[in-house]
This record gives sequence, structure tokens and C-alpha cells, in this order.
Amino acid sequence: MSARRFPDDFTWGFATSSYQIEGAVHEGGRGPSIWDTFCRTPCKVVNGEHGDVACDHYHRYAEDVALMKSLGARAYRFSVAWPRVQPTGRGPANAAGLDFYDRLVDALLAAGITPWLTLYHWDLPQALEDAGGWPDRDTAFRFAEYASLVAGTLGDRVSTWLLLNEPQVFLERGYRYGDHAPGRRDLTAYLRATHTANLAVGLGFRAVRAVRPDVRLGTTLYLAPCEAATGSEAAAAAAERSHRFENVWFLDPALRGRYPEAFLGPVPLDSMGVRTDDLELVRAPLDFLGVNVYNRRVVSADPEDASGIGLAYHAASGGGGEGPRTDLGWEVWPEAIYDVVMRLTHEYDRPIIEITENGCAYGDTPDAAGVVNDSRRIAYHRRYLSALARAMADGADVRGYHAWSLLDNVEWADGVTQRFGLVHVDFGTQRRTIKRSGHWYARLIEAGALKGC
Ligand code: FCB
Repeated sequence: MSARRFPDDFTWGFATSSYQIEGAVHEGGRGPSIWDTFCRTPCKVVNGEHGDVACDHYHRYAEDVALMKSLGARAYRFSVAWPRVQPTGRGPANAAGLDFYDRLVDALLAAGITPWLTLYHWDLPQALEDAGGWPDRDTAFRFAEYASLVAGTLGDRVSTWLLLNEPQVFLERGYRYGDHAPGRRDLTAYLRATHTANLAVGLGFRAVRAVRPDVRLGTTLYLAPCEAATGSEAAAAAAERSHRFENVWFLDPALRGRYPEAFLGPVPLDSMGVRTDDLELVRAPLDFLGVNVYNRRVVSADPEDASGIGLAYHAASGGGGEGPRTDLGWEVWPEAIYDVVMRLTHEYDRPIIEITENGCAYGDTPDAAGVVNDSRRIAYHRRYLSALARAMADGADVRGYHAWSLLDNVEWADGVTQRFGLVHVDFGTQRRTIKRSGHWYARLIEAGALKGC
């Protein structure tokens, strides 16, 4: 294979999220989030696990920043926990909550690591869920208020901002299927929630811009190429509906001020709660698109329409059935990153793309010599990055890549059973051990090319 060289100014980073690593859920005036509640609900999370301690990053952030520095990270994508900043999701900022991020940002800058801040990575204040949650359009206005509080404090030092992490995932799992917080299963509420999330992007965009006109502002989407399971016309049409509903449902409103035709019938604007002028409010001329890629979606037509709302397609979870699977059961499919990036490039006039997450769950632990030999993770990142480099050579404007994740952490409803870190965490002792993949990634950052590392 020829050298896959990345541009010298390519941003190499790590990604994490607040609930998955911070712990300290009762400290600094933090209010409860929907994930605290969900984890306490019997049978929702594997082994009844929760993020009360997680990686104890709240207390060990300096050590974690030093770890990233030792690996040569250029950027670090973390999220702010809304319930630390506004314990009940509204009202004035809780200074102690913001202080934590203030210290984190300063530590990153001192280490020469550029902070990338995600405003919402799934830990909604419980009080807002009690008031209706994402299905209630007021949540979008609350989000904009929260966004301006955070931007007012950290906007002088954080230059790259992301609004929402993966609305497609947190809404579908939280309100349609109920296997993530807040655990609701209500189709109408779910559809309304998708509109609130789009409103949150539009309003949040303007709120941050108003406070800090100079920052780079994007949002992060979970994207998977949608492939027809068979050669039939029905499967091709189903794959297209899936692309529209799962991929661009949270993109077209921001960039084009409209919802894509994702249903057999018309878009159900009324049951989604779309009001006059809303399609202006959802617009947001994002500076870049944050893209999380893990796998593909293999889609077949569903003539019975189990969705009940005219989506009429079915996609197996975890990708297709050809590639090897990670411990979480997700298919390894490096072409997914190429296909997604190229489709965005063609359909959205070559937008700036930042890969904000990509990674895999493998349970390797330290051997007798203390080495974590996670060769499957190295192979995974190498193959996805190689496909990404090909997309860049074919014209995609990709500026950076964040490995998910820095640390093994609380993988939502899978608790700590699924290890995505390039650094191993012993949850008993909180000892961090850089895996072989972490050392490999450090060499890659240093070399700026895949060849030889
Ligand atoms: C993404 C989430 C992230 C993590 C990875 C494995 O969907 O954004 O928090 O759970 O999957």
C-alpha cells in the first residue's frame, strides 16, 4: 500500500463525553441527568452499572490531559454536562459547574491541546425531562439559553464548538425504542423530539454566534451509508428513505431549511409540531459537519411497515453481515467512512468535514507484563483511516479525526462491559494503561502518515 499521508495541519484528536467519563455526579452542585435516573431503573443498564464514578475524570482530568499530551494529541473533543451548568436545566449558571470546564480548558491549552467542546452529549437535566423532555419544543429554547451561558464563559478560549451529539441516536433510542435514557417508547413524542432537536440546532447556533461571532460552529451526526440489501427497486427505495430519515433528517433542516421526503407519504409536519416560521428557525449555516462513523446500514423494504408511520424499511442493527464484528456486535466496514464522506461531499457542495468519532469495542486487558495488545483496534483504525485518506484524495474536505475514545468508559446501556478506549482503565483502581493502539496512534500523529506505523 502506498503511504497515506495526511495534511500537516490535520487535527488528530481523542473524543469523550461527560457522563461516560466524569463521575462525581453529586459534586460541584451538579443536578441529576436523565442518565442518572435511567441507570437507577432496574434492568435498563447491564449489571445495574452507572456513571457515578465512571473514569473519575472529574478528579483526574489533569492526569488525563497529561496522558493525551504524552500521546501527541493535537485536539480533545469533550462534552459539557448541562446539569453541571444548570442543575435544573434553566436559570443562572452554576459557577462551580462551569469552573470544572474552565480548569479543564486551561489545562488543555497549557498542554498545547486544542479544546473542542460539545454542548450536548445526551445528559439532559432530569428536570427538563420531567417538564416534557425533547418532545417539548421548550427544550430547544432552554438549550439555546444554556449554550449562551457556556459560550459566555469558555468562548474566549474554545474555538471549535459542536451543538448536539448524534440526535438521530439519542432520540431514536431514548424516545422510540426506549433502550436509552429516558426510556420512553412513544412514536408521536419521538417525531416531535426530532423537530425540537432541529430547532435546538438553529437556536443554539444563533445563541453561540451572538455571544462569540468568531468561533467555529458545527454539530455532530451519526452517519452510516444506507445500502440496499438486495438488487430490487423496493430495496433501493427503502435504502433511500432510510438515508433521508436516519442521515439527513438532522442536516437538511439546518442547511436547507426543509425536511427531506423520508416517508411513503408526506412529511408529517403537523404531528411533528412544526409551526409557521419554524423552517426558518431551524436553519443554521454550520461552519463544518461533525461526522461520527462506525458502520453501514443494510436496508430492506418492509411492506408491513412495522414503523407504523410510513417509513416502511428495515435495517439490521450493527451493520451488515459480511465483515468481522467487534465485541459490541458492530460490523467492521471501513468503506462506510469513505461512502459517507463522499456522499456528503457530493450532495452538500463539498462541506468541511470533521470526523468527530470513530472507534471499536474490544475487551483486551493488560497481560502479565502489563501490555494491552489490542491489535484488532489498530487494524480497525488503520483500515478506516486508509479509507478516509482515499476519500480525501478523491476530493473530500476532511480536516480532522478524533478517535473514540481516549479512555475505556461507561458505554451507556452496556455499562463498562464494552471497552472503546485507546487507553485501558481498571475501574477498580482507576489505573490508566496506554494500549498498544494508543502508542500506535501516537506514532501515527507524529508521522502524519499511515505507512510504517
Ligand atoms: C456513539 C456515541 C458515543 C459512544 C460511541 C461508541 O454513538 O456518540 O457516546 O457511545 O457511540
